[in-house]
Amino acid sequence: MGRFSQAFEAQTKPAPVHDAPVFIPEEVELTAAPPPVETAPEPEAQTVPTAAGNAWLDTKIKLHTRLIDEIDLAQLDGLESLELRQQVHDIVVEMAREERMKLNARDLKSLADGVYDEMTGLGPLEVLLQDETVSDILINGHERVFVERRGELELSAVKFANEPHLLRIINRIVAQVGRRVDESQPLCDCRLLDGSRVNVAIAPIAVDGPLVSIRKFSKDPLTLDKLVEFKAIPDVVAQFLWAACKARVTILISGGTGSGKTTLLNALSQSISPKERLITIEDAAELQLQQPHVARMETRPPNIEGRGEIKQRGLVKNALRMRPDRVILGEVRGEEAFDMLQAMNTGHEGSMATLHANTPRDALTRLEQMVAMGDMKITPEAVAGQIASAVGIIVQATRLSDGQRKITSVAEVTGMEGAVIQMQELFNYTRTGTGPNHEVIGEFRSTGIRPKCLDEIVTRAIPLPEGLFEPKVLEPGKTSDQTIKERVG
Ligand SMILES: Nc1ncnc2c1ncn2[C@@H]1O[C@H](COP(=O)(O)OP(=O)(O)OP(=O)(O)O)[C@@H](O)[C@H]1O
Ligand SMILES: [Mg+2]
Repeated sequence: MGRFSQAFEAQTKPAPVHDAPVFIPEEVELTAAPPPVETAPEPEAQTVPTAAGNAWLDTKIKLHTRLIDEIDLAQLDGLESLELRQQVHDIVVEMAREERMKLNARDLKSLADGVYDEMTGLGPLEVLLQDETVSDILINGHERVFVERRGELELSAVKFANEPHLLRIINRIVAQVGRRVDESQPLCDCRLLDGSRVNVAIAPIAVDGPLVSIRKFSKDPLTLDKLVEFKAIPDVVAQFLWAACKARVTILISGGTGSGKTTLLNALSQSISPKERLITIEDAAELQLQQPHVARMETRPPNIEGRGEIKQRGLVKNALRMRPDRVILGEVRGEEAFDMLQAMNTGHEGSMATLHANTPRDALTRLEQMVAMGDMKITPEAVAGQIASAVGIIVQATRLSDGQRKITSVAEVTGMEGAVIQMQELFNYTRTGTGPNHEVIGEFRSTGIRPKCLDEIVTRAIPLPEGLFEPKVLEPGKTSDQTIKERVG
């Protein structure tokens, strides 16, 4: 048994934390040191920026190494996380005392937290994962960790001790979902236990060190009301989309990477009646539908022998045998587009999907290309016809140059003219200038076109604001104290 394992048992009371300089707990009887623990993690990196910079990192590495050498990890198994955190804290305090380190209570706590995270979690990443203001974490090698806050990318103070340290954390991430990355499989898509989406690329694909991109799972997903409040979409447009979704108009959400597509899909789905059966299909389950009747499916990558892959296409086909009212595809990317269109055309109106495209027109072209990827023996005209009858509305989400996210276009697919799909724009956002801090200034407009799908909305007696389709500039921000649900139903 290790010196500090006995210390665990000896310490019945947790050590208090004061905000005073140098905190030293009561003396504890110590016995001989145990053999080093093989599975122990190595020294870890600075997670807390302090003026002391490198000295702080050295301190942590020193303490951490000692802790790993002396602690009996088996003793920690089965402890509740709070209890374990406290134990680690107590040991770190004890070691700091022995090493005669001059640390105040706050430093000690963050030191102990760092050591704890390294032992049980994702090391230096834990602070970023717990920071609610961070939406994306982008690691470019062990020394450069960027984060996105409020739409803007910034370099964070977090670093990994070295490349093996980062690789170890990466392997811990992918091992959680039974995957692994190495030279033969340097790419991996997976999820953290909290639902955050992760992409990993290591050598030989990644040239300058491992690359990790994490889209954090938002515990509190944005609602349509919040998007209105953030001026991402005008109130009346939000009401219209809510009504259209409720009236089972098929909606595609188009946009670039990180433009807010999934967020909008989540928000819109809240208008769907709880009586409907929804089936969601995603690569990494991100959608957070509130309805009671949701069946979620996720694709499966091939195993180590390259077998057992289940693609989106197979899942869309399978979904149709599961009696869905609507099928919701996290992102349509390839050959499954054909099956999705078929579903939308055969009684699953109101199905939804997102796709990567820069404009609604571009989204249609992308869809045509995706169907072609399926190697179906159908003419391009027939494909266009399928699309025109399946898709009702295309909503464009855009991340502007200053990081703001906005709904920049809402267009309706109206049918075919010859071999060309016809479309009309109902609302748009146009940039009109630049503010003093390079922020984008612009305005939302209603084009004045009355959509065809309005009949569908009116027949279902879903109320909409007066004069919605008159050509005019639309006020951004909240215009009512009532929620959209309270107003539109
Ligand atoms: N209008 C908005 N205002 C502020 N933040 C937003 C807005 N819309 C989305 N976000 C945030 O932006 C991030 C990216 O959003 P989201 O995941 O919806 O993008 P996406 O287009 O689906 O990305 P990807 O292409 O990677 O799937 C999330 O953290 C989300 O919370
Ligand atoms: Mg998405």
